[in-house]
Amino acid sequence: QSEYYSEPFRPQYHFSPEEKWMNDPNGMVYHKGVYHFFYQYYPEDIVWGPMHWGHATSKDLVTWEHKPIALYPDKHGLIFSGSAVVDFGNTSGFGTTDNPPLVAIFTYHLMAGEKAGRKDFQTQGIAYSLDNGDTWTKYEGNPVIGNDGIKDFRDPKVFWDTENSTWIMSLVAGDHLQIWSSDDLKSWSKRSEFGRDKGAHGGVWECPDLFKLKVGDTEEEKWVLLISINPGAPNGGSGTQYFVGEFDGEQFTTEQEDIKWLDWGTDNYAGVTYNVLPEDYYGDTYANDPKDERIFIGWMSNWTYARDTPTEKWRSAMTVPRTLSLEKNGEAYELYNYPIKAINKLLKPSEKKNLTITAEGSETISHDHFNQAEIRFVSSANDFGLTFGNEVNETLVLKMDSATQTFTLDRTKSGKTDFQEDFASVQEMPVPQLPEEEFEVRILMDHSSIELFLNGGQYVMTAQIFPNEFYDSLKIENFSGSEMLLKDFKVSKIRRVW
Ligand code: FRU
Repeated sequence: QSEYYSEPFRPQYHFSPEEKWMNDPNGMVYHKGVYHFFYQYYPEDIVWGPMHWGHATSKDLVTWEHKPIALYPDKHGLIFSGSAVVDFGNTSGFGTTDNPPLVAIFTYHLMAGEKAGRKDFQTQGIAYSLDNGDTWTKYEGNPVIGNDGIKDFRDPKVFWDTENSTWIMSLVAGDHLQIWSSDDLKSWSKRSEFGRDKGAHGGVWECPDLFKLKVGDTEEEKWVLLISINPGAPNGGSGTQYFVGEFDGEQFTTEQEDIKWLDWGTDNYAGVTYNVLPEDYYGDTYANDPKDERIFIGWMSNWTYARDTPTEKWRSAMTVPRTLSLEKNGEAYELYNYPIKAINKLLKPSEKKNLTITAEGSETISHDHFNQAEIRFVSSANDFGLTFGNEVNETLVLKMDSATQTFTLDRTKSGKTDFQEDFASVQEMPVPQLPEEEFEVRILMDHSSIELFLNGGQYVMTAQIFPNEFYDSLKIENFSGSEMLLKDFKVSKIRRVW
């Protein structure tokens, strides 16, 4: 396999397709010790085209096995984004309770309908697998949800609602969310709508996800709704907003007035989470059972330039899997996202040290592998700069500014940028609630991406970069008038896993 992974810009520990075009993650479901991962896939080219579901599996979410394409377009249309569930009670009747079916719920996109100027070209369909996802059969009664004239009607995310013993689907309809329910995954009824007057509406709503999380270490629980929008993200193009509220089995409601973003960088889109089954279903059978962890994966790109990035054999990669958690800061509920623990096992052991940098001073660190590394420290200061550089004078510049409470990521001179006019940008992230005394800075680099996590995932930025040479230096600047301490500073090479 390794020959696939030596091309320029090819990520070494992030998921990317062996070849050709990929966009959204789909059908993320855990079953019998295996994490299934599907994705929007066009097997003929490195630009978007008639969508299939590509498929991969993993036991640890870190190493992946590529599988044959799971779903192909058919007479109802292309296979757009959606989800998958283990129908453990065999409610659909597609399998047996001893061998419960995996059921995929996705959007059919009828190109001919769209071209003819009709509005009803997206419907919802299902397919099932009785052999752990290896082969799939489309339901002969498709589509299971028709369309009576809604132009953008897609991306069903289904989960089992334990409290009400029913299947719940969240689905987007242009500018709002719809919630549907079903007893058998085949026959669906609409229960409610949400969001016409809430949240960001700079673009169409896509890829919803609704799930419950505990608040910090308390017993309080809240429901979280993820909604991707394109365009209209804070740094341009595609982005993912979230709402924290209540779900009563029919309706999602929230008191949230402000707009909240899961990730402030330009390149984390269409992300959703793994479906987690009722705990008693898992039992103790599998050592890697996720139990009540909420694991998120997003597509590391942006529709503004997704088709133009300078790779040749394949296009785009996914974020590292991230654990989602909810914290209450003052009166506000905030969604954190942070790399899953399994990432740590890829780190080559390295030494921690405490770095002190004099007032207005700087220090430059060399390393052969900033292109494929974790940089991590606890900062006692909040006026500093981090500049990655290489031998051809390309720089990726990060800055923390306490006066404006802003973190910036400047990729204007980071490498190849001229493939599309909006790519070279300075991205800003407001950090109003960052602790003043100290906070963790954690950075994951993988050839063509950077993921930045401040304070354990409270503030996150993900961005693509295309340096012509590997970055081999990191200049740390102290912009404050007092000495700055970087505690437990560490650069660890990250093993390639392919
Ligand atoms: C999001 C999206 C989805 C759609 C899919 C098509 O990136 O536009 O709404 O289902 O991509 O590939």
